[in-house]
Amino acid sequence: MSENRKPKVKKVTTHVLQEMKLHGIKIAMITAYDYSMARIIDATDIDIVLVGDSASNVMAGNESTLPITLDQMIYHASSVVKAINRALVVVDMPFGTYQGNSKNALCSAIRIMKETGAHAVKMEGGVEILESVGRILSAGIPIMGHLGLMPQSIHKYGTYVVRATEDEEAEKLLKDASLLEEAGCFSIVLEKIPAKLAARVAAAVRIPVIGIGAGLHVDGQVLVLHDMLGIIQDFSPRFLRRYHNLYEEIKGAVQHYSEDVKNKNFPNEREQY
Ligand code: KIV
Repeated sequence: MSENRKPKVKKVTTHVLQEMKLHGIKIAMITAYDYSMARIIDATDIDIVLVGDSASNVMAGNESTLPITLDQMIYHASSVVKAINRALVVVDMPFGTYQGNSKNALCSAIRIMKETGAHAVKMEGGVEILESVGRILSAGIPIMGHLGLMPQSIHKYGTYVVRATEDEEAEKLLKDASLLEEAGCFSIVLEKIPAKLAARVAAAVRIPVIGIGAGLHVDGQVLVLHDMLGIIQDFSPRFLRRYHNLYEEIKGAVQHYSEDVKNKNFPNEREQY
């Protein structure tokens, strides 16, 4: 099968993603937080929709992902799930719902699966979260790992700079990726790490590795929807490719409407009863 020929699958499952890696077919993943945007995404051939805890920044205006709650993630995820027919829907477990207490972690994951209808959860961390990973997997809930820059640990790092540039952190990341694979995770996100290291991880594990700021030589890519659409303009890391300038388009349309109202150009004869 050629690299760009995607099999026509009705529903993307963790098994389909594994097959895609085996056949060298790249996996496209994007975030969504609400029903209307998710409906548009569902009309594309995106493979994975992530209800990311980046909702904390993008939807709620917080400075970090830490404040978002389990109830808020469930609200976003249940809206997204209603719109998605093809892609696998993965939901971020928010900060504080899985670290340090594997029984709480399982309860949080079960709430996400029961109350949203999503297909999997995502968790940040390696060896530190293995007990929670094991307990959640034992309940039959698929897990996507997340290594490299882990925004829930921003106060530990103090900065959003590229991670694992030093040997010690790079070796730990490689080990963590293997541990997550051995535990049974179906995929791993690598955020903002050197492309060479990401390529090593993707070659070392059999499960799909999805990159964001991790270069081309991984099994797929993920971007935050509002960043790639250019709705949010004040975030411009090197890895971000903007596919549109929706900020200007939306601003222009809203300004136009406001002027029409003020100049008595809206509504016209055909727009009234
Ligand atoms: O929350 C999020 O949007 C994410 C992606 C950046 C991978 O975790």
